[in-house]
Amino acid sequence: CGIVGIVGQQPVSERLVDALKRLEYRGYDSAGVATITGGALQRRRAEGKLVNLETRLKAEPLNGSIGIAHTRWATHGAPTEGNAHPHFTGGVAVVHNGIIENFAELKEELTAAGAEFQTDTDTEVVAHLVARHRQEGMGRGEAMHAMLKRIKGAYALAILFEDDPSIIIAARNGPPLAIGHGDGEMFLASDAIALAPFTNEVTYLIDGDWAVIGKGGADIFDFDGYPVERPRQTSMAAAYLANKGKHRHFMEKEIYEQPEAIGHVLAHYVSLIENRADAVPIFDFASIPSLTISACGTAYLAGLIGKYWFERYARLTVEIDVASEFRYREIPLSPQSAALFISQSGETADTLASLRYCKKLGLKIGAIVNAAESSIAREADAVFPILAGPEIGVASTKAFTCQLAVLAALAISAARTRGTITENEVQALVRSLAEMPRIMGQVLNSIQPKIELLARELSKYHDVLYLGRGTSFPLAMEGALKLKEISYIHAEGYAAGELKHGPIALIDKNMPVIVIAPFDRFFNKTVSNMEEVAARGGRVILVTDEKGATASRLDTMHTIVLPAVDEIIAPMIFSLPIQLLAYHTAVFMGTDVDQPRNLAKSVTVE
Ligand code: G6P
Repeated sequence: CGIVGIVGQQPVSERLVDALKRLEYRGYDSAGVATITGGALQRRRAEGKLVNLETRLKAEPLNGSIGIAHTRWATHGAPTEGNAHPHFTGGVAVVHNGIIENFAELKEELTAAGAEFQTDTDTEVVAHLVARHRQEGMGRGEAMHAMLKRIKGAYALAILFEDDPSIIIAARNGPPLAIGHGDGEMFLASDAIALAPFTNEVTYLIDGDWAVIGKGGADIFDFDGYPVERPRQTSMAAAYLANKGKHRHFMEKEIYEQPEAIGHVLAHYVSLIENRADAVPIFDFASIPSLTISACGTAYLAGLIGKYWFERYARLTVEIDVASEFRYREIPLSPQSAALFISQSGETADTLASLRYCKKLGLKIGAIVNAAESSIAREADAVFPILAGPEIGVASTKAFTCQLAVLAALAISAARTRGTITENEVQALVRSLAEMPRIMGQVLNSIQPKIELLARELSKYHDVLYLGRGTSFPLAMEGALKLKEISYIHAEGYAAGELKHGPIALIDKNMPVIVIAPFDRFFNKTVSNMEEVAARGGRVILVTDEKGATASRLDTMHTIVLPAVDEIIAPMIFSLPIQLLAYHTAVFMGTDVDQPRNLAKSVTVE
């Protein structure tokens, strides 16, 4: 979810909605805004996308120079207008991002004491707790502090008090919150990007902090109620004000930005490799016994490809798991070891929790992130930026290939420091990496018509299977993830060799099988698996390169042919047809490509 607040001098509701638009990637199933006008709390809320709230505000404008606003990704309670934030009770208005884990017992206690709940959300207990403490005679800050002592879980909160139209009180434990410093006005948001048009001077709250924000500044307190100072910094978020340019969707724009984005990554990392230094000295690949990687979603699949590289080139054992499992597995890890966390947003709750688990055990922590000002970046010992620029489309594209490029560079750097490959091999790998922007440009310029044709056909099916071997296996899973995320067609990615252990039972003419098979060490084996599909009446779509297309004699439904490339860059190059296929299929199906149903770009809850 996204939170915004303004303590201003002019009416705020329009600016609040404007800021929410830049946070819509955090959730978009309902939205709301509250202000204090004429001494009373007022709100407008609407189900669905922000544009519905805008329409509501046009019909029923909201005055007031102080306000809070929210865009929601439902956790507790359906995404209805009634469950949309802000929640009001007893002169208190609350917006919340996160989950109050003990809300059920608090609700029971408050109900027994006479509170009447109007929503199914966990958030409403916050409003009732604060309102009750106020009734007991506590001051606003005191009531806030007392409430924070009662709630458990993850939260970013912003609260308005009807009887004081000069302050917002905010609190953070988990999801991020940035206070923005304006000229006679103050701001608050769950991401500095929302504040970019208003100010680039921000102060990030840290976990346990709460703050009383007035027009002239903010007083920040720690969890025990003692005043604390947090640094004021200049945010780079203004550079993130993005638009679609000539493209129909952000996703399409971001797919086409990949040659340039990868160029930035290479400029940064290849020079590090060539200078023969460790990529970052603190992350000493030479001495670690193993490497641990954790991430979610597409970032996890990038990590899985990274595992193949670290193991093969740097002879480094890699333990990898999705962060939601990793964080609770109680994995015994050596403090001599190192861990990498991969996250576009740098805010994914499970990934952050996994990072903290490893930090506690004493491992050196590296973060591969896009958002340099994020929580994951701040808590890591070494930050490896992916330099992809803003990614707005919910389905990750350029962040994925940039994460891969960083992982490839780190694996080569690790191999060099560990002495597991020769200098000539290092140079050959670096030369291959340097080819990427050119080849990506060439592929993007040539395959669209073919992909569109295939996408039109694919949009008629209900199930699709993706197969691959080696680094093409995680890519098969990424292909399936992309397709299901945005086109809602059921898709699975499988290791080609596992086909015979289950999914082969599903093969018939109604389930196309997309085989990702560059002409590499595994090509012949993957082709055998393809034959198994064809022998059972399955329809094969082969994504291969020029050498593979010549070598395979199989009759396919379609063959997508890419230039023949070196093995290390194949995952990045083969990502392009995979992404474009999902994109065009979704466009044919008429789905909301940039904001697919039920998903959010940054998931700050478990
Ligand atoms: C969400 C997004 C995915 C993303 C995942 C991890 O599910 O929809 O695109 O891969 O979160 O996000 P992160 O910001 O940690 O990379």
